[in-house]
Order: sequence, then C-alpha cells, then structure tokens
Amino acid sequence: TMAVEEMEAEVRRIKEKMGSRLFIPCHHYQKDEVVQFADAIGDSLQLAQISAKNTEAEFIVFCGVHFMAETADILTSDEQKVILPDMWAGCSLADMADLPQTERGWEAMQKQFGDTILPLTYINSTAAIKAFVGEQGGATVTSSNARPMLEWAFTQKERVLFLPDQHLGRNTAYDLGIPLEQMAVWDPVQEAFECAGDLDQVKIILWKGHCSVHALFTPENVKHVRTRHPDAKIIVHPECAREVVALADFAGSTKTIIDMIQKAEPGSKWAVGTEMNLVNRLAKQMPDKEVFSLNPVMCACLTMNRIDLPHLLWALESLEKGEIINPITVDPDLAAKAKWALDRMLEPKT
Ligand code: 13P
Ligand code: SF4
Repeated sequence: TMAVEEMEAEVRRIKEKMGSRLFIPCHHYQKDEVVQFADAIGDSLQLAQISAKNTEAEFIVFCGVHFMAETADILTSDEQKVILPDMWAGCSLADMADLPQTERGWEAMQKQFGDTILPLTYINSTAAIKAFVGEQGGATVTSSNARPMLEWAFTQKERVLFLPDQHLGRNTAYDLGIPLEQMAVWDPVQEAFECAGDLDQVKIILWKGHCSVHALFTPENVKHVRTRHPDAKIIVHPECAREVVALADFAGSTKTIIDMIQKAEPGSKWAVGTEMNLVNRLAKQMPDKEVFSLNPVMCACLTMNRIDLPHLLWALESLEKGEIINPITVDPDLAAKAKWALDRMLEPKT
C-alpha cells in the first residue's frame, strides 16, 4: 500500500498532466484529504451552477454523492464524462423517494386535491424523480434557494408537493407564513396523509423523507448548549427538524452557515448543526472563533465520506490508463426531462 504522501503526489501529477481536460468539483461535506485537490468547492446549488457553465472539461471527477454526479451529467454535454470515485456514495434521503412510490402518491394526491398541485423536488433526489417533477411543470430546489422557489411555485399552483425532505419543506413553508395545520405529510409506505388540520385547507404536502445526518441534531442538543455555552450562537441546516430550527438562533444552507461564521466577530462561539467535515474545517480555518458541533457526537455523512484519497486516486489513475471507472450516465430521455426541472431553478423566473 502507498503512503499518503505518495498518493497525494500521484494525484497532483495526474492533475497536472491532464490540465483543463480534468475537473474536480467537491461538496463542502467532503473530507479534507479530497477537498485539497478540488478545482471548485461548493454547496449543491453552486455545484449545479458550476456544472451548467462547464463546457470545457472532458472528465468531471465528482467528489460528492450520486445525485450530485447525476445532476452534473444532466447539465453537461454528452461528450463530457462524469465519474463518481465510489459508487457506494449515495444519499439515503434521495433514496427515500422512488418513482413507483411517487407515481402512486401523485395519483392519490390528484384524487384528493385535483389538478391544484405543483411538485418541487429537493435536488437531493434521483434523476427519475427530477424527471417526474420536470414533466409536471415543477422544478428542483436546493437549501440555498428553497424560499424563492417555493414562492415561485405558489404563483403557478394553489398547492405544492415537496419531495423528498419533509424538514426542508416544512421549515421553508413555515418561513413563508404557512401554519403547520396547513401542511400535510405524505407517507409513501402507508400510502396515507398525516395532517393535524383540515386536509382541504392544506397548502403544502411534505414527502415523508429526511436526512439521517441532520436528524441527529435534537432539541436536547440545543438545550445542552444553551446551558453549557450560554454565549454561543446556534446555527443549523434546514434539513434539521422543525423543533430544532425553532430553538436555534439561525437556520441556513451550507453556504449561509459558512458566510455567517466567516463574517462573525473574532472570539464568537458557534454551535453548528450540520455535517462533521464542514464543522471541523470551519473550526480549523477560523482559530480566532470557537466553532463546534451542536451534537457532541460528531455527525458524519457516511456516504459522503466514502469518497477518500484512495478512491480519488483510483479514479484518476484509471483515466490515465484510458479506462473510465464508475461513469455516471443518466438515460437521455430521463436526463432531458430532469433538465427541465433543473433549468426552471437555474434560469431567472419571469
Ligand atoms: P446543501 O449543499 O444545499 O447545503 O445541502 C446539504 C446536503 O445535505 C447535501 O447533501
Ligand atoms: Fe444525503 Fe444527508 Fe448525506 Fe446530504 S448529508 S448526502 S442529504 S444523507
């Protein structure tokens, strides 16, 4: 086995040799050992925008999870090859909505509400779900633009179906002033609505999915930090549950979290409710501030963490040999429909 320094030197050598033919985009939740080689680092929205503009790179070695690589494939040309260094790097949230479930749910919703619903899907979803949403006139959203996208959706239809993350949907709808009684949850396993109020009054239907990483942050974590660190600010990602967001000082996308802590006063304390690699990186980058995880048991996204230095090197070495390991190729028909949903998000609304 190679020493770490040798692997790093190999990655550097291949990157240099391939030049602008190779592009390595990287999500903020990736490990430092991978992030150090990123040509671009961003949240889901930034990574989609970067892909849409990237017409040059022949090979895109995507350091993130499967749905992000699919999105990159959809937004780049057919000649550009997208590679995921480890095929096991999925997203449990994206896997919580499959197409047959979504079609069955949609049918039940049409029966209940008629043709009054526009579907929106969090970008953390499979290409098949994006295609379904695209075909219905809906759009993708990310945690960075969920609010304006939801506002846009309500200019199109009376109701919105929000897939597959109930928490981002609920938190965003709540910010828009929609009361909890006017939100229903669709349980794809029971094939039933859950609703505290009158179903006829419902404005938003939340798919019963969640991110297993952000679900680890609890109201107890918030209470504990308030007692132990009364001077700390608490900031969480909107994939956290409503009760946690309600108790926190701020909630925001990955980019918002980074920007807020970067702009904060030296000496300030921040308890952060998001993925561990990002929290640790912020702590390291800003030694003049105290940045720590809201949950003392570090919350790692195990699938994001599948991408490590050996896998990155393996992908690059294969490219050098003229092999393409783990290509991500979305079926062209699905890709075209999924692109409608992505374009509605990326293009300015009229
Ligand atoms: P953002 O990159 O939109 O903040 O999403 C967080 C996330 O969980 C990505 O998988
Ligand atoms: Fe999916 Fe959550 Fe991991 Fe993001 S952090 S990739 S939403 S499981």
